[in-house]
Amino acid sequence: MDKKLLKKYLKEFTSGKRTYIWGASSFLKKIFKELNSKDYNIIGIIDKDSTKEGKHFCGYQIFGANRVKELKPERIINAAKNYPYLSQQIKKDLEEIGINCEVFSLDYFVKKSTPVRLNPILFFLKSNKEKLNYIVEESKKLYYYDSAIRSMLRPDEKRILHMLAKYYYSGRGAIFDAGIFLGGCTEAFCNGLNENKRVKPNNQIWAYEYGNCSPDVNFEVDGAYTFEFLQNSYPNKKINYDFTNIVRENLEGLNKPSCYQLYLGDINVQPYPNKIEIMFLDVCKCPRTNFAMQKLFSRLIPNKSVVIQQDYIFSACPWLRITMGYLKDYFEFIGATKVNSALFLLKKEIPAEILNVDPYEKFDYEKLVELHNYYNQYLNQEQSDMIVKAVEFIKRDKNIRE
Ligand SMILES: C[S@@+](CC[C@H](N)C(=O)[O-])C[C@H]1O[C@@H](n2cnc3c(N)ncnc32)[C@H](O)[C@@H]1O
Repeated sequence: MDKKLLKKYLKEFTSGKRTYIWGASSFLKKIFKELNSKDYNIIGIIDKDSTKEGKHFCGYQIFGANRVKELKPERIINAAKNYPYLSQQIKKDLEEIGINCEVFSLDYFVKKSTPVRLNPILFFLKSNKEKLNYIVEESKKLYYYDSAIRSMLRPDEKRILHMLAKYYYSGRGAIFDAGIFLGGCTEAFCNGLNENKRVKPNNQIWAYEYGNCSPDVNFEVDGAYTFEFLQNSYPNKKINYDFTNIVRENLEGLNKPSCYQLYLGDINVQPYPNKIEIMFLDVCKCPRTNFAMQKLFSRLIPNKSVVIQQDYIFSACPWLRITMGYLKDYFEFIGATKVNSALFLLKKEIPAEILNVDPYEKFDYEKLVELHNYYNQYLNQEQSDMIVKAVEFIKRDKNIRE
């Protein structure tokens, strides 16, 4: 844990608000042994154990939880460790008695201020498969990603993108970043590329985004969901269906203009890089675009390029899993995050006559299901259950076409 960073986060969180700690825990004691309690605007500790009332702990007075209404907290730091849902529960309980306040866990701040330090073993791993495996496993250890841009990705997914651009990327091809929405994935790639010791940033990230969620313009996204996400992300901004200005602003705000090139509009009609080394696909929301992306696999580099299918562990978009099942002889499954992203390493070049067939169009229902479920052997039960649900979608879709 970086103490300076932790102090900064705690100062920011407690400043100008009536802040209390929830629970005189041993975790609090361990962490505050390293910090000076006077540095923060914390009034005291609220504890359910009435026998502790009036005592002092870590330099703070303890108040009984029965007095919470008169204490009028505006912010609470939950000091329990390893109870991920407790903060939500505290918030809910307080709302029931008319107190609306933000609750964050101390554990969250501690994790947020723990920098990623990859074990140097990565550099001794010989094969690209081993390196990729290592990156996927490392991403699971830390579940916080410090970002300036709101994103639909999970922290572990952003970590993978960051680590790929930092440790795996060699500069032999582009970083293809398809479906960036507000730019969260691009931020992770930019951070990684900027920290890459072997390659200098030279606009290698090709970032694509439609930039419009109007149901009349972009048929490929859930317009209502996207619009609501935009409104929640920018409560003080007037939100339009066209959000290209926000995408531009967000990327400019990263202050890394030499890392990326931005393509706004339909990805199906954009220029593409000649060679692709890292291909992040968060854009295969319909069969048409999925097939267009499949055809771009001709630009991947055998035994180097990695494809990240962001919607792989997800109960929609069956066509992209069918594509990966169809191309099983050419890719190797590397691993996946708990939900969403799965990584594949290209083993050998894929002949054009294979890539020019759209398996979702060509095959009958039974074959589609077989291809769709091919990689389930590498997933845990929860993940394959999620995918199996998508089979119903194929059934409906194919019946409608008949
Ligand atoms: C799930 S969001 C991407 C989230 C993003 N990767 C992040 O880090 O938050 C999918 C994005 O793909 C974009 N998209 C879908 N179809 C597209 C197309 N044909 N061309 C360009 N962008 C498209 C949508 O506008 C949407 O913003």
